[in-house]
Amino acid sequence: MAPDGATRVAGVIGSPVRHSLSPVLHNAAFAASELRWVYVAFDVAPGRGAAAISAMATLGLGGLSVTMPHKSDVAAALPRLSPAAAALEAVNCVRWDGDELVGENTDGEGFVRSLRLDSGFDPAGASCVVVGAGGAARAVALALAQAGASWLGIVNRTSAKAESLVALVGPRAEVTTLESVPRADLVVNATSVGMGGTSGAGASPIPAELLHPDQVVADLIYHPLRTPLLENAERIGAATVDGLGMLLHQAGLAFALWTGVEPPIDVMRASALGRLSVRE
Ligand code: ATR
Repeated sequence: MAPDGATRVAGVIGSPVRHSLSPVLHNAAFAASELRWVYVAFDVAPGRGAAAISAMATLGLGGLSVTMPHKSDVAAALPRLSPAAAALEAVNCVRWDGDELVGENTDGEGFVRSLRLDSGFDPAGASCVVVGAGGAARAVALALAQAGASWLGIVNRTSAKAESLVALVGPRAEVTTLESVPRADLVVNATSVGMGGTSGAGASPIPAELLHPDQVVADLIYHPLRTPLLENAERIGAATVDGLGMLLHQAGLAFALWTGVEPPIDVMRASALGRLSVRE
């Protein structure tokens, strides 16, 4: 459907943003749901996140996704935040509530949804090790704790960041080392080690001998979809969850917040896979 005078505009702000998969996912979802919406990428310079939020209000954009480097600036600029966005001091999605803008963070819930829906794993009562302590790790660890995980071990190269994440999550979390990996029901890689096109490409942040077949092993990286960590996990017979699930479900939650319509996750997955296969 070509845009017309009634078309609503949504988009993502980030920098760089050209390679974002979000326009592909959301435009596929709008089309499949027969919504008169379009989704575009806005390359917004670092430090201009708050100005982009003013522009969203002025232009009446229907919804905004927020990615690097604006997540914390946008959280600071919005007077109303969801509990997850307030706890993380990071916003990945802005929506309207009447005539007021609200900052949300759907990353952690997106990850838990991907665990539950794509692999049938419920974090309630589970022991979890999260490797990494950056923005993605914070969202995932907090959501796992809220979903009822009984113990969360945080492993990170820089220990101060692991300690800050433990302080965020509370008493069920502790700073630990990779030696805790064998006791975990769920192991999550939230570092960039293994990501294509970086110095860590081809590497795994977790030695294969620490994994066992009763575990669920998740990687937040989606480029490549089969990281060395997931290949090792698969080889020893563990269940695996790739990073596309979190990407899709955090986008699906944003789509639902903006439009009030159930997200067509399968359509979004097919569009993302199509784009990723071109990129490989
Ligand atoms: P994101 O927003 O994706 O979470 P980030 O905030 O930059 O990105 O976090 C990147 C994570 O990957 C951090 O936990 C980082 O460890 P440090 O806190 O020590 O920087 C981790 N990381 C990146 N490269 C790494 C490497 N070569 N070895 C181990 N950890 C690495």
